[in-house]
Amino acid sequence: MTGAARERGIGRGIVECLAEEGCDVAINDVGAEEEGQALAEQVRALGRTATFVAADVSDRAAVDAMITQVEEELGPLDVVCSNAGVAAWQNVVDVTDDSFDHLVGVNLTGAFNVCQAGARAMVGRERPGRIVVTSSVHVQMPFPAMSVYGATKAGLKGMVETMAIELAEHGITVNHIGPGWVRSFINDASPSLQTEEEVRTTLTLIPAGRPADPREMGRAVVYLASSDGDYVTGEFLRVDGGFVVGKY
Ligand SMILES: NC(=O)c1ccc[n+]([C@@H]2O[C@H](COP(=O)([O-])OP(=O)(O)OC[C@H]3O[C@@H](n4cnc5c(N)ncnc54)[C@H](O)[C@@H]3O)[C@@H](O)[C@H]2O)c1
Repeated sequence: MTGAARERGIGRGIVECLAEEGCDVAINDVGAEEEGQALAEQVRALGRTATFVAADVSDRAAVDAMITQVEEELGPLDVVCSNAGVAAWQNVVDVTDDSFDHLVGVNLTGAFNVCQAGARAMVGRERPGRIVVTSSVHVQMPFPAMSVYGATKAGLKGMVETMAIELAEHGITVNHIGPGWVRSFINDASPSLQTEEEVRTTLTLIPAGRPADPREMGRAVVYLASSDGDYVTGEFLRVDGGFVVGKY
């Protein structure tokens, strides 16, 4: 479970829900180690095994080492969640090389590294495998000042769908979830969410009338990771309170 340490993060919601359903969990993040260790402790209190692994998902060697370490500590991988992500708000004419490389490196290369290493570990085993990627409503809905972020998320759709085709014969499903708006760390810098008025305006765009709780993403991942999701692969599951259908 990558990008999972932060207290208000989607990753944390996914970890909590998977652990409550009986999963042992490896929690990855590039920072926030204290929060990640606290989350691991919370999972252990549920009677599950948990470990925190610091690694940068954009570093392929670090990801490979992480997968090896996780299997040594927790046993064979059953579910891989690629969730780590970063955002930046810049008009296309202002996008810097560093920003472009960072977004693509974490959101797209990083997700590829995690999914590839996870798939390599799961292929050839008797047990069913599950890969769930956190993409975004950006897959279906463009937002100004987010051209690179949107491109990385749309790229994940292509990756997930192709992996779903290739890995089906190995009993591995590959799907992605599409959060709309979750009040996590990533959105603290959003230019349209800085004042109460801006928050109210954003809420008018969401038919559900509220942002999502990270655990609502977790429940969607539980569905895709469970036997209920046996026949679901290559799918995009929006969990957005109607954000996309409300706009179009
Ligand atoms: N919050 C939303 O409204 C929203 C909407 C759609 C999609 N998403 C996606 O959900 C995912 C989780 O984001 P979030 O909203 O919980 O924000 P968040 O910032 O709380 O979580 C992202 C996590 O990824 C970690 N991370 C960043 N770079 C990393 C790296 N190189 N290696 C490992 N971990 C790294 C961060 O430390 C952080 O813990 C992201 O992929 C994001 O794009 C979020």
